[in-house]
Amino acid sequence: MHVVTILCLVCSWIKLGESVCYRSPNACPQTEKDFLNVHIVPHSHDDVGWLKTVEQYYYGTNNSIQNAAVQYTYDSVLEELWKDSEKKFVSVEMEFFSHWWKEQTSHVKRKVHKVVERGQLEFVGGGWCMNDEATASYVDIIDQMTMGLKFLNDTFGECAAPKAVWQIDPFGHSKEQASIFAQMGFEYLFLGRIDYQDKALRMSNGEMEMMWDASDSLGTEIFTGVLYNTYGPPPGFCFDVLCGDETIVDDPDSPMFNIDRRSKQLVAYILEQSKHYRTNNIILTMGEDFHYQYAHAWYKNLDKLIKYINKVYFNSQIRLFYSTPSCYGQAVKNALVEALPRKTDDFFPYASDPHAYWTGYFTSRPTFKGLVRQTSNLLQACKQIQAVTVRRRSNVLNQFQRSQAIAQHHDAVTGTAKQHVNNDYIVRLDQGIRGCSGVFSESFNHLLSLNGSTLNQEYCAMLNISQCQTTEQNSPFIVTLYNPLAFRSSHTVRIPVTDGSYAVTDHEGRLVASQMVPIAEAVLLLPGRNSNATNELIFRAEDLPPLGLRSYHVKTPEGKPGKRMLRSRPRTIQLPNKEDILVSAYGLSLKFDRQTGHLVQIGNESVQQQLLFYPAMAGNNSRFEFRASGAYIFRPNGTDALPLEQPATKLTTIFGPVTTEIRQHINTNTMQIFRLHRDESFIELDWILGPIPIEDGIGKEYISRFTAPEIRNNGTFFTDSNGREMLQRQLNHRLTYKVNVTEPTAGNFYPVNSFAYVEDKSTRSRMTVLNDRAQGVSSLLPGSLEFMIHRRLLHDDAFGVGEALNETAYGVGLAARGSHWLGVENSRSVARFLAQRMARSPILTFSPTALSAEEFRKSYRMEVALLNRDLPPNVNLLTLEPWDDQGRILVRFEHFFGVGEDEQFSQPASISLKGLFATLNIWTVEEVNLSSNRPIKILDTDELVLKPMEIRTLILSTYQ
Ligand SMILES: *[C@@H]1O[C@H](CO)[C@@H](O)[C@H](O)[C@H]1NC(C)=O
Ligand SMILES: *[C@@H]1O[C@H](CO)[C@@H](O)[C@H](O)[C@H]1NC(C)=O
Ligand SMILES: *[C@@H]1O[C@H](CO)[C@@H](O)[C@H](O)[C@H]1NC(C)=O
Ligand SMILES: *[C@@H]1O[C@H](CO)[C@@H](O)[C@H](O)[C@H]1NC(C)=O
Ligand SMILES: [Zn+2]
Repeated sequence: MHVVTILCLVCSWIKLGESVCYRSPNACPQTEKDFLNVHIVPHSHDDVGWLKTVEQYYYGTNNSIQNAAVQYTYDSVLEELWKDSEKKFVSVEMEFFSHWWKEQTSHVKRKVHKVVERGQLEFVGGGWCMNDEATASYVDIIDQMTMGLKFLNDTFGECAAPKAVWQIDPFGHSKEQASIFAQMGFEYLFLGRIDYQDKALRMSNGEMEMMWDASDSLGTEIFTGVLYNTYGPPPGFCFDVLCGDETIVDDPDSPMFNIDRRSKQLVAYILEQSKHYRTNNIILTMGEDFHYQYAHAWYKNLDKLIKYINKVYFNSQIRLFYSTPSCYGQAVKNALVEALPRKTDDFFPYASDPHAYWTGYFTSRPTFKGLVRQTSNLLQACKQIQAVTVRRRSNVLNQFQRSQAIAQHHDAVTGTAKQHVNNDYIVRLDQGIRGCSGVFSESFNHLLSLNGSTLNQEYCAMLNISQCQTTEQNSPFIVTLYNPLAFRSSHTVRIPVTDGSYAVTDHEGRLVASQMVPIAEAVLLLPGRNSNATNELIFRAEDLPPLGLRSYHVKTPEGKPGKRMLRSRPRTIQLPNKEDILVSAYGLSLKFDRQTGHLVQIGNESVQQQLLFYPAMAGNNSRFEFRASGAYIFRPNGTDALPLEQPATKLTTIFGPVTTEIRQHINTNTMQIFRLHRDESFIELDWILGPIPIEDGIGKEYISRFTAPEIRNNGTFFTDSNGREMLQRQLNHRLTYKVNVTEPTAGNFYPVNSFAYVEDKSTRSRMTVLNDRAQGVSSLLPGSLEFMIHRRLLHDDAFGVGEALNETAYGVGLAARGSHWLGVENSRSVARFLAQRMARSPILTFSPTALSAEEFRKSYRMEVALLNRDLPPNVNLLTLEPWDDQGRILVRFEHFFGVGEDEQFSQPASISLKGLFATLNIWTVEEVNLSSNRPIKILDTDELVLKPMEIRTLILSTYQ
């Protein structure tokens, strides 16, 4: 007996590890041709942090804020699924499911495999979270989806890969997201929130379901369905213990007997809903936020209704059954008699009523959004380094990747979580930064040291406020740059230092031109800054090799300052000045108005720039017209953006051999720095916006407005979609439906992750502005682009977060700093290249050394390239990461031009893998889908061709 039992256990264990098709063919309920098929989909929407932190939501702590404990949901739902094979449930966020999974015994795990196999527990989406679609970059979206789907593949095998995805709560939907889903092999996409006017039209035209043409370059498409009631149950039919709706009583002897009446109500709702859909299938989403902790309550009432209606309404040909999104999608596909309508644009902006345009969250929490972009770059660099050195995943990488994935949730990077939850996201990202600093230190030493001696390489996370202990306290020191781009790239390096003069020596022992610039007053005064640095040492790192490291030796020379060291003398001009102020350097020139100090001209073109603000609407939200501007909603009081109360008082110009800057002092904690860089075709605009004043009791939303009056754009402007393909926007207009924009300012804002431009069709002249973090943008005046950069609000907007977006730090309103790059070349291609450089700027580490430049060169390599050659200029190495512990490496190559964007760079690109990676030898190359959970084929060639906007994903088996 004993022996047999043991053998059986071993059997099932072996089975667990196999990749077998888990979905049985009859996993979907049979639909009836002549019936109205009602797909009842039990689900729980589990936010990966919102009112409570991720862990609080999982365990159910802090329940006074919200009664929510995801662990019980899985415990409870599975009991129900095991009891009855008809019952179904969908699982969406792998952050929660994987947490629950790892706490289960092998016995429970085997039973879960069974319900997955039978299609009772269906994974939908299967990303780590349900990511936001407006403010997340495509890099992070692809990563967070890949992470969740990898967990699913590793746990349940390839056939558990979800076919359906639902984005039931994000506040608007992007075209790039749809394209990404299509490329990941999803067949059905369901949406919860679309503009109320769009929805009304779709309802009356029977266009709630459509085919979405998600990429103009790639021709991807995906079936897309809009859910009837966002993601909630029919009103009155919420049976969760958190709901108060009348439960179903089917005992005719009970005085509470109500099933007859209740069924009638539900059938009426069903019939009404079905009028708006094309086929004889409809979906009822039976769940809300954090439901099914006590799943029995839901299922017991649904069981009664299903049984009763199927019997009593048999002649009305209505049939209810438990189903899932993929079963519903399949049923609709099978039942369609004519082609679906097509969707070509996106679903932004999203309005839920005439005064609720969800365009504030495009900018909410600007410093957090900035951090998420910074960590995105850092994480990619960290993965690259680990892929080419140790070639296996580390806990550091796993932790960081998880933190970054969580930060993409639709209440995280959006800035719509409660403050304490946002703090938790930051702590997680900070752990990632620390972990990867260690990785950089170790790997850089490994790659650079010639004699085994090592340096303590510090990553200075506070460079954005010009603070770094190593460089402030040491001389000499070494600065090492890592270029995460797969092509050569130059960078202007700025290092916080104390006073003195410095000599910078490069990898070939040459003295490099450098300059010292005093740190701007508004930076010195930033709350929380803890630094003795008073100056920045600036030099150019020219032509950093692809995936390359280069070190520079920096020291305070004894005696006279180095010859090539230039101390830049600031010159201050009080305003108003007698004449306009013209600043020329490196073949570029800027003109500033003598009265206001505003930028008014670049070269010969009239280009104006100004900081302005919208006073925020206050309100108690008791009626639509009393809606307040808040974390989600942007609602200015009035249509005019107002000039800052204090105009600029003075300009300071600082000329130098590397960088020339013009500082516009607005007040002690608000300033802008315009920078021209040698050999660069853009102007950097560094903005510092101290605490937003609220003493007048009015919230404020700040914009940076660029205007090129000669560009007649006729209300048209262009914005990127999650950092990739461009979309055309038209003032007070939507491309695919008739709209009445009831908030003339807020209703014309769109998300921008990478860059926006306005163009004059007749002259083909363009103004392009790149942004360093997710923001909202519009073009309300002719030839203009306005980016919302910061917001501080005093009222909640009543969409759930229950806090006013009034961020503070160090006891005062939150100060923010960021930058825009203004393209000065008209060339179509320049923005694409600059966008790559902005998103993937070099990683800097610093280390003290006792060695002279000479000596250092003998002990350390000062330049190493991890790629043996540049990729073609239109190809980005999107991903390079260790995929497992056996030396398999995940690689993604991305063509980053769209069809027709550029004559030269929109051509297909070809790359060769042969000898590309300096430290990797490749055995085999397997091509997989974008999320790397479905094999495509083993490649028998080293050559790859990429079409415009194409991403090709490979798993390389490597040895060293
Ligand atoms: C999916 O998991 C199976 C094991 O269940 C593994 O053999 C396969 O390589 C995985 N697929 C990918 C693309 O990693
Ligand atoms: C600044 O310098 C003072 C005096 O040398 C020193 O005590 C202090 O620790 C320094 N602060 C920082 C942040 O380095
Ligand atoms: C809007 O602005 C006007 C003028 O400053 C002010 O009187 C009014 O109270 C503001 N209304 C709201 C709802 O914020
Ligand atoms: C400007 O846009 C309007 C509305 O979209 C259009 O009717 C008009 O023809 C356009 N004018 C030009 C010069 O493109
Ligand atoms: Zn949500």
